[in-house]
Amino acid sequence: MNTKILNKNISDISANILVEFLTEDELSLHAEYKLLNLAGFKAEQDSICFLHEKGLLLCGVESKNSEDVRSATVSMIKALKSSNYESAKLSAISNSTLPAIVEGIVLGGYEFNDYKSKPKEITLKDVSIASNELNFEELENTFNEGMIVAKATCFTRDIVNTAPQEMHPQSMVEVARKLAADNSLECSILQEKELEEENMGAMLAVGRASVHGSALIHLSYKPANPKKIISLVGKGLTYDSGGLSLKAPTAMVTMKMDKAGACAVMGMIKAASELKLEVEIHAFIGAVENMVGANAYKPDDILVSRSKTTIEVRNTDAEGRLVLADVLAYAQDKIKADYIFDFATLTGACMVALGQYTTGVMGHSDKIKNDFLKAGTESGELVGFLPFNKHLKKLLKSEIADISNTSSKPYGGAITAGLFLDKFIQDDMKDKWMHFDIAGSAYTETPWDCNVYGATGAGVRMVTHYLKNI
Ligand code: BES
Ligand code: ZN
Ligand code: ZN
Repeated sequence: MNTKILNKNISDISANILVEFLTEDELSLHAEYKLLNLAGFKAEQDSICFLHEKGLLLCGVESKNSEDVRSATVSMIKALKSSNYESAKLSAISNSTLPAIVEGIVLGGYEFNDYKSKPKEITLKDVSIASNELNFEELENTFNEGMIVAKATCFTRDIVNTAPQEMHPQSMVEVARKLAADNSLECSILQEKELEEENMGAMLAVGRASVHGSALIHLSYKPANPKKIISLVGKGLTYDSGGLSLKAPTAMVTMKMDKAGACAVMGMIKAASELKLEVEIHAFIGAVENMVGANAYKPDDILVSRSKTTIEVRNTDAEGRLVLADVLAYAQDKIKADYIFDFATLTGACMVALGQYTTGVMGHSDKIKNDFLKAGTESGELVGFLPFNKHLKKLLKSEIADISNTSSKPYGGAITAGLFLDKFIQDDMKDKWMHFDIAGSAYTETPWDCNVYGATGAGVRMVTHYLKNI
């Protein structure tokens, strides 16, 4: 399907059907009000009504703000994709709602069909967005940027959605290499031998029972005159069985999504490089599979991490923080960044705290937190702060090592995981670090907003927006 923006009056564009967004107030003023009323259309948010003989599709909106328009566009694209129309046209409304329309079409219309032997055929070929405004160049630019971000989000979704037998740590390496070649990024890979030389004892322990070697991926985007240097760190557990602290069967299903943090940082660096942002970006990924086996790491093991901090393993299912401990340490050793942000499907507790739709944000800097609240709100992602405190920090105390990988109490699990990571943040980086728990927001089994079944690409839109405005 091809979506484009045209510098034309909407009536001069030929298409099979015209889409209009309508508020309740506008409904009674519509030329086809009589017919719409007969059809029972009330212009409620996300409701749609086809007037086939008039070549019209009406989409109800509560208001014409981005959130409502994005959501209505999702209803529109789903309806069009299951119709037999070949082409559709709609108006851009305004420069500020255009990204929402693009996201609605691209993200709401996204489907992952790699494993369907007979994917359903889509008749819809062209969606044209009309603009007869004087500032067409500005609109076109907004459209192109929106497309880059939406496509980068789909790139992230595709990798997350790929089955774990196919997308293991070494395939993540291939994906990163291809991205680097396509987008002129630098790419370096540390395989297990190098990981040993770099003393990544925590990360290596997690991947030991896998038949696929663990790998650390470092991608860099280096524009000529960067305003800032940013390190992005992603949890890339291509499968999390829980290890010897094996997950229950129902909890294990969907754990291919445990690589969503890694896939998100690849989507972010892809978008940033295509938008040619003046920010140097380093993406660090710990690609590992957490499995069971005779050589698996076990509860009671003591791991020596890269930073020399010793870790008592009390639960092998709290593996993401072990991988991140080493990758965060490595990232800080290699690059003196202005900011370091990590993305991880880290805890079920984050979903308990904030619900499934919201990314948990943790760190020491109120300024960065507020910048991301703004970036999230403006880009259509939900964020919620989870506050650190010294009492929760004490729960990670180990009697035998420097720190335990689990808390001694069952409450505040998302925060204690964040505090575990804090132990691996160097003193001069404390106020420059932020942790994003995307356990809930990265994957969904029921559609919401512009997210369809499966991976959502959480983080990509928000971080790209943040980087654009840095
Ligand atoms: N990958 C999981 C967290 C997760 C759970 C992500 C559900 C998405 C959906 C993580 O590795 C994990 O298993 N965490 C444990 C930590 C516990 C053992 C301290 C958890 O959340 O139960
Ligand atoms: Zn786990
Ligand atoms: Zn995990």
